[in-house]
Amino acid sequence: MCGIVGYLGNSKNPKDVIISGLKKLEYRGYDSAGIAVMNEGKTKRVRASGKLKALEDKLLTEKIDGNVGIGHTRWATHGAPTERNAHPHQVRGISLVHNGIIENYVEIREALLADGATITSDTDSELVAHLIANEIDSTKDLYKAVEKTLCKIRGAFSIVVMWEQNPNQLVAFKDGPPLVVGLGSEENFVASDVQALLQYTRKFIYLDDREIVLLNGQDVSIFSANGYPLQKKAVELNWDPQMVEKQGYAHFMLKEIYEQPRAVAAAMEPHVNTEKFSVRLKNVGFGSLVNKLEDLDPAQDWIKTQEVLKGIDRIFIIACGTSSYAGMVGKYLIENIAHVPVEVDIASEFRYRNPVIPPKSLVMTISQSGETADTLAAIRLAKEKGATTLSICNVRNSTIDREAHGHLYMNSGPEIGVASTKAFTSTLTVLNCLAVAIGRIRDVISDKQEKEFVQALLSAPSQMEVVLAYDKYFDQAAHTLKQFRGFLYLGRGVSFPIAMEGALKLKELAYMHAEGYAAGEMKHGPLALIDERMAIVMLAPSDELYEKSISNLEEARARGGQVIAIGTGDNDKLKAISKYYLSLPKAHWTINPLLEAIPLQLMSYHLASSLGYDVDQPRNLAKSVTVE
Ligand code: G6P
Repeated sequence: MCGIVGYLGNSKNPKDVIISGLKKLEYRGYDSAGIAVMNEGKTKRVRASGKLKALEDKLLTEKIDGNVGIGHTRWATHGAPTERNAHPHQVRGISLVHNGIIENYVEIREALLADGATITSDTDSELVAHLIANEIDSTKDLYKAVEKTLCKIRGAFSIVVMWEQNPNQLVAFKDGPPLVVGLGSEENFVASDVQALLQYTRKFIYLDDREIVLLNGQDVSIFSANGYPLQKKAVELNWDPQMVEKQGYAHFMLKEIYEQPRAVAAAMEPHVNTEKFSVRLKNVGFGSLVNKLEDLDPAQDWIKTQEVLKGIDRIFIIACGTSSYAGMVGKYLIENIAHVPVEVDIASEFRYRNPVIPPKSLVMTISQSGETADTLAAIRLAKEKGATTLSICNVRNSTIDREAHGHLYMNSGPEIGVASTKAFTSTLTVLNCLAVAIGRIRDVISDKQEKEFVQALLSAPSQMEVVLAYDKYFDQAAHTLKQFRGFLYLGRGVSFPIAMEGALKLKELAYMHAEGYAAGEMKHGPLALIDERMAIVMLAPSDELYEKSISNLEEARARGGQVIAIGTGDNDKLKAISKYYLSLPKAHWTINPLLEAIPLQLMSYHLASSLGYDVDQPRNLAKSVTVE
């Protein structure tokens, strides 16, 4: 889950490239950072515990330049987040950065200690530097030493390494966590994510597992782990570097909350016909390579997509965190609209419970990053068991995207805030499109119903704009709300997963106790928690479950719970029984989750800010979880 950047070239100071890249990668981990730059065969390393800013401050008084360098921002796995455990690790002229976990590190450490090695950190990463340094003693070649080391380490890892005796080389290897090569003019880069390099290049080669890259002067060569040269196609991205800046917002999270109407419009745009009010999924590319999707004939592709979606009789949705709550909304949408049974599972459970996946199942994964280790393992397992897979990702060309048979995209643009916001509502939009498409393909819904669903979806962005006004409201209310001891989020039907998501947001950002519950389940336990210091956040839109929600609300209120109700329009009843009432525009039931998510995001954002927490980088978390 750490972030890695490497640079080799003569036109820039590696330090500048690395620091600007690490800033974009801080979402991957932020408990220590470090940099090593080589100049005529001499390496200078600077490391600091804490956020990247601490490293930047240290660099103010250090002169550090050269032509090749590597840097790292860490999310600690082995060893505390101290300076001695920060990367790069150095052993006899080798400098190395590592993202991931070395599973056999105990054996390696014991063997190295028995051989008399001096180990200076508690990390698994340093051990890899020792192994490479040992190999280099005989091979005298960095690339060969890396190749020989790979068969000695087990786990999931990406590494970038340089050696003082070869001052014009960088070698990188990927097995698990993502790594991309950025191609420049007379300079080249490696990084964990394209966002780190967009400022310098739009041309990338995405590495697959067990591939080694050798940057040698201006040449880029890629090999399989056993030494065969590979021809890999570069991909040209059209992302704008401006998209990864804060653009005047106090935090990336707030900017991303505000971007939601646009993101939702972009998510539906490829699939929705705005004249006929119909849905036709575009370039799902079942069975096609991700980097060829643009070349597909849309008509042929649609025939194939319909064939696949007609042939299934159940869907599994697998994801983690916020993406799994989006998946739960997907279950309500698909079962209601398309009448196909859907099972939702958390990836870390699915992958180890030996799931039964009957023939004719579609296994769908949802992942903003497309790199979450458990979700990736789940899709691989599903493929092994013979299932057809479909991914919903935000990051195109990510590992999950590349490994799935079919592909749908959130189209949210880069999401930097660790707590997911726009990717969540974009996913709900894609799931709406998918549910309607399956409903039509299987003749479960009529033309008229399709039109109704699509019209509802098209109105979502403007309705979301209205709901953004709660930004100001929570800016003020946060000071009162932070007095509560805990928060119970309740919802029914399609609002139940939103209650779960609301509680997650509050936990991860404001570090307050919050639980999301199905409102009808409250009497089976949570009711005992309620007193006047417990806030009840009730999602009670005017849908067919509204009356039931009101009854649950009365039960909570009777026990002293302070109610924050979120409902539809100017609802006198809800106003009367709640301490705070938040009104949402009247919307179709399929769209309510998109609207409900926004006040809950804003509430967590403002509560966390008023408590003085860093909302973009909550403690102990990371955005892209590439370890299990
Ligand atoms: C982390 C992030 C969450 C995200 C989850 C799944 O926990 O902090 O915001 O929902 O990972 O990530 P994915 O990229 O697979 O959607």
